[in-house]
Amino acid sequence: MDTTLDAVPGAAPAQWPRRPAGIAYGGDYNPEQWPEEVWAEDVALMREAGVNLVSVGIFAWAMVEPEEGRYTFDWLDRLLDLLHAAEIAVDLGTPTAAPPSWFLHRHPHVRPVTRDGQVLGSGGRQSFCPSSPEYAAAAERVTTQLARRYATHPAVVLWHVNNEYGAPVGECYCAVSAAAFRDWLRARYRDLDALNEAWGTTFWSQRYGDWSEIDAPRTAATVVNPAQRLDFARFTSDALLDNYRRERDILHRLAPGIPVTTNFQLANCKALDYWRWATEVDVVSNDHYLQAERADNHVELAMCADLTRSVAAGRPWLLMEHSTSAVNWQARNIAKRPGEMRRNSLAHVARGADAVLFFQWRAGRRGAEKFHSAMLPHGGTGTRIWREVVDLGLDLSALRPLRGTRVSADVAIVWDWAAWWALELEWRPSVDLTYRERIEAYYGQLWRDHLTVDFVHPEGDLGAYPLVVVPSLYLTTPAAAANLRAYVDGGGSVVVSYFSGIVDADDAVYPGAYPGALRDLLGLEVEEFLPLREGERVRLSDGTVGDVWAEDVRLAGATAVATYVDGPAAGGPAITHHRFGAGHAWYVSTRAHGEDLRGVLRNAYAGVGLMPPAGIPDDVEVVRRTGPDASYTVIINHRADAATVAVTGMELLTGEPCPGSVTVPAGGVRVVASSR
Ligand code: GAL
Repeated sequence: MDTTLDAVPGAAPAQWPRRPAGIAYGGDYNPEQWPEEVWAEDVALMREAGVNLVSVGIFAWAMVEPEEGRYTFDWLDRLLDLLHAAEIAVDLGTPTAAPPSWFLHRHPHVRPVTRDGQVLGSGGRQSFCPSSPEYAAAAERVTTQLARRYATHPAVVLWHVNNEYGAPVGECYCAVSAAAFRDWLRARYRDLDALNEAWGTTFWSQRYGDWSEIDAPRTAATVVNPAQRLDFARFTSDALLDNYRRERDILHRLAPGIPVTTNFQLANCKALDYWRWATEVDVVSNDHYLQAERADNHVELAMCADLTRSVAAGRPWLLMEHSTSAVNWQARNIAKRPGEMRRNSLAHVARGADAVLFFQWRAGRRGAEKFHSAMLPHGGTGTRIWREVVDLGLDLSALRPLRGTRVSADVAIVWDWAAWWALELEWRPSVDLTYRERIEAYYGQLWRDHLTVDFVHPEGDLGAYPLVVVPSLYLTTPAAAANLRAYVDGGGSVVVSYFSGIVDADDAVYPGAYPGALRDLLGLEVEEFLPLREGERVRLSDGTVGDVWAEDVRLAGATAVATYVDGPAAGGPAITHHRFGAGHAWYVSTRAHGEDLRGVLRNAYAGVGLMPPAGIPDDVEVVRRTGPDASYTVIINHRADAATVAVTGMELLTGEPCPGSVTVPAGGVRVVASSR
C-alpha cells in the first residue's frame, strides 16, 4: 500500500487512510453507550446510508481500562470485527481525552487549574493537566495496549489521538504546569538576562534573579506582563503538542503504516498554533460547527474550510466532525433546515475535504450531549434527517472522482496564532479590536467577490498569489516584515489593515513611528492611534464609513486614496497606496465594512490585473478542484431562487450534461466535471 501524497516543503510527509477509496462518510460512533443488540442494527443502517468510515473509542477509556492495568478489549474486538465484516473502516481513538474516575480519584492533583486558581472538577471530560507526569504515564500505557492489540486489525485505517486538544481547556496554572513553564523558558532563552530583556522586566520592578522566581501568569492584582502571557500561550500549545506526539510516536512504532491524526478545531480554538501542529499529523482533520445564529454562517464555514486546507499545505483533509442539524451547546441551538446539511457538507468538499464525518452516528439517550443531532436521530429512520443522511451518502459516492484533487486559490490572507494571542491581551488601545473580526471582514468581501482564499503564515511563501491581505497583524516578526517587503518588491500586492506591524515577537513596540515593521513598505507613519467612542462613526472622502478606529497618518511616500472628512483625524489620509518596488501596498486605517471594503479591494485587484469572476449571482459559491485529467466545479446556491452559472461538462450528482451552463435550484448544489 502506498498512500503517500507528494511531500510539501516544511510539512511532514502525508498519508491518507488506505480505505475507503472514495470520499469518506460517517461519524463518531459510540456503541459503548448502547446494548450490544443495537450494534447489528447500527451496522445495517450504516450500510444503508453508505457509511464507510467511523470513529470509535474516542472517550471509552473506562470501558477499555476499567481499573488501572486491567484491560477489557473483548467488546472492542467484537465491534471492530463486526464493522470490518460490513466493510466499514475504523478511525480508532485513543481514549485519553476522558480520564476515567479511578484515575482522577487516585491522582486528584492532575485536574487542571484555571488562571483564577480554581481546580476544575471531574464528571466531565478533558480533565487533565497537560504537564502531568501521572497523566502522561497513564495515557502512554493505554495507548500502548491499544496499539499492540489493533495494529494489524484490518478494519483500522486511521488513528485518532485524544480529542480536540486545547478545547475547551488549554491552559493549566497548577504548580506542575508552572514548573514545566520554567523548563520551557529555560530552553527558549537559555539565560535569565535574555528573558529579562525579552519580557522588559525593568517595568514595574519585575526583574528575575533566579528561574525559580518565575510563575505562570495567573490572575494578579493588575495586568500581568504581556510578554510573559504570550510565552505562556506558546508554552501551552507546545505542552499539548508534546502530549499528542507522545501518543503518535507509540502508534507509529507499534502500528507502522497506519496514519495518525488528531481532530483540530481551527478558527475557534485559540490555544493551539495549528501551523505548527499541522506538520506533526499524518493527515489534517478538523471539526466545524456552525455559529448557527449568524445569518452568514455559510461564509464562516467556507473560511474555516479554507483555513483547514491551508494548514494542510493544500492537501486533502478530513472533516472529522460537523452536525446533521442542531448542536446542544450553543445558547439557542438552531436546527438546520432541509438541504442545509447537504450544502454544508458539500461546501467542505468543495474546499478540499475528502471526508464528511459527523458528530455523531446515533443520538444518545443519556449524558450531556443527548440533545445533539446525529445521523440517526432519536426519531429513527422515519425522519427527514435520516432521509437526508441516506441521500448525502449517494451524493458522496457520485463525487468519488474528486478524491485527491486540489483546490487552487486566487488570493491569500495572512493568519497567525501569535498575532491573535498578542492582539487580544489586556490594555490595548481599544477593547473593540479583536483578531477574527478583521479577518472575517476581509474574507467575507473576497467571498462575495467569488474569489477563493488560501491562508498563509506571515513568514510563509507568498509567491503564488497576486494579492495578499494582511488584517490585524499586530504582532509582526522581523522575518514576516521582510517576507512581505520582498513579496511586494517583487511585484506582489498587499492590503494591510490598521494596527498591524506594531510589535515584535516579544510584544515590544518597534522603535520610531508606527507601524514600525511595515512603515517603509506602506510609505507612511502613524503618529497617533485615535480609537473611536462606542457607536462613533467617521466618514471618508470616497464615501466609506468607518467605526472603532482612526489614525493620525502622515504620508512618507504613499499617496492618499481617501481622506477623513470628519472625526478626530479629519483632513488626514485614511486609505493610502504606495508603490514599493514592482508592487503595491494599500493601507486602510479605519474599520470599514462590506461594500466599503469592496472599494479598496477593487483598486487592489486592478493594480495586479486580478479579475474577480463575472456572471456569478450574489450568494452563489463557486469553487474549483483540479485533478490530472479533469476539473470539478462545485456550485452552491445559497439563494432563495434558482441560479445559472456558465460551465461546460458533466454534472456528477444528476448525471446530466451541461453544455455551457448549469442551473442550480434554490438551496441546491451542483458539481460539474470538465475535462482539462
Ligand atoms: C466537539 C467534540 C465532540 C462533541 C461535539 C459536539 O467539539 O469533539 O466530541 O462533543 O463537539 O458538538
